[in-house]
Amino acid sequence: MKIKSAEFVVSNSKVEKCPDSRLPEYAFIGRSNVGKSSLINMLTERKSLAKTSSRPGKTQLINHFLINGNWHLVDLPGYGYAKVSKSAKRTFQKFITAYFANRKQMVCAFVLIDSRHKAQKIDLEFMQWLGENQIPFCIIFTKADKIKPKALETNIKNYQTEMLEYWSEMPEFFISSATSGLGKEEILGYIESVNQQ
Ligand code: GTP
Ligand code: MG
Repeated sequence: MKIKSAEFVVSNSKVEKCPDSRLPEYAFIGRSNVGKSSLINMLTERKSLAKTSSRPGKTQLINHFLINGNWHLVDLPGYGYAKVSKSAKRTFQKFITAYFANRKQMVCAFVLIDSRHKAQKIDLEFMQWLGENQIPFCIIFTKADKIKPKALETNIKNYQTEMLEYWSEMPEFFISSATSGLGKEEILGYIESVNQQ
């Protein structure tokens, strides 16, 4: 898919205030600092469409971007950031839960996972929660430029083993790098094929 236009629409913490639109949307979610905002910029070829930072906890709101005038890309805050206060965590959890429960136009969530690490409990539990709530999702292993191919393969295999403890098959997954552009064609191609269904 060629990205002809990518524009910021709105940021908010209330799901009721998200765009009142029937356009299909794709959400990017994952631990703080995993590279959600960077991946959005890479996919859209816009340097700073989504705000990024080396400090975890940068994205705090639900951000909608309109792509090619016919679908939405959604940048969400990260989970699992230890330094956030308990009440902030609760508020966050509430609005993320509300987002997934209420956005019927959300066709697929991309769960981002840092490819440098072995399977983490917090990510496995989050994906189980998505499954329990019948929310379709794919996995994207990020920051592939920061790990050697062999180690990347080992980490993905470890994920597959862990996932198969709970799921009957490994969900669709992609490997990405925001610095090299790895994964761009595959992820956009996937979105395009789902949009056409
Ligand atoms: P929060 O909004 O805080 O949850 O973080 P985020 O998941 O949106 O991460 P963000 O895109 O802000 O990136 C976090 C840090 O990782 C930044 O310093 C990025 O430059 C870096 N980063 C993100 N993706 C990649 C990647 O693919 N390769 C490399 N080398 N660095 C990356
Ligand atoms: Mg972010």
